[in-house]
Amino acid sequence: MAKEGLFDQLRNPSGLLGEVAGSVMAQTNKDVNRWVIAQLAVGPQDKVLEIGFGPGAALESVLKVVTHGFVAGIDHSATMEKQAHRRNRRAVHEGRLELQVADVASIPYEDETFDRVYAVNCFEYWQDQEANLEEVKRILKPGGHFFVATQPRWFDDDHAKAEQLGNEMLEKIKEAKFADPRLLKRKFDPITAVMITAYKH
Ligand SMILES: C[S@@+](CC[C@H](N)C(=O)[O-])C[C@H]1O[C@@H](n2cnc3c(N)ncnc32)[C@H](O)[C@@H]1O
Repeated sequence: MAKEGLFDQLRNPSGLLGEVAGSVMAQTNKDVNRWVIAQLAVGPQDKVLEIGFGPGAALESVLKVVTHGFVAGIDHSATMEKQAHRRNRRAVHEGRLELQVADVASIPYEDETFDRVYAVNCFEYWQDQEANLEEVKRILKPGGHFFVATQPRWFDDDHAKAEQLGNEMLEKIKEAKFADPRLLKRKFDPITAVMITAYKH
């Protein structure tokens, strides 16, 4: 597939190709998702939101720990919502997981709903990052924790560029006035992943 077509399928997977892209993501993004989930340190009672859940593999892991809280996911791709639903059918049926087709620009939850919000390999596609970060703050509880991570495979194996992207993401989170923003880096094959963790005041 041409690079542009691949980018489109990662940004907004659709149709049969989108289904395939989702299955590939579930495999290739396993390690970075595992890393993020370890940092989330969710508890059984937490209210957790994933933005851009793709195939729903990270949600599946989070649900193993959040047994008495509430887990939600939004993704603007209807194809990904179907795939994530299939992967997590039982949790949806039991009312422990709510999946919605929605854009980060307008998150369909009340103010101050979530203890933890995370997004993996998604921030780079947000159309208006400044406004979108405000929207994330809106639905976080005061003291709620935000995690945003990216493994920038488009830099091939240029680890320095990945680290530079991490610094740029950190600046954006600082500008959005999250509390205590920190940059974490982890060397993966083929390229480093970066994550910003921060709180809402
Ligand atoms: C590259 S995939 C990553 C999926 C998953 N988080 C992972 O790491 O495997 C990016 C996902 O973010 C979703 N996405 C991109 N922009 C979005 C937006 N503005 N609002 C909601 N979802 C978005 C896409 O539909 C896609 O499912």
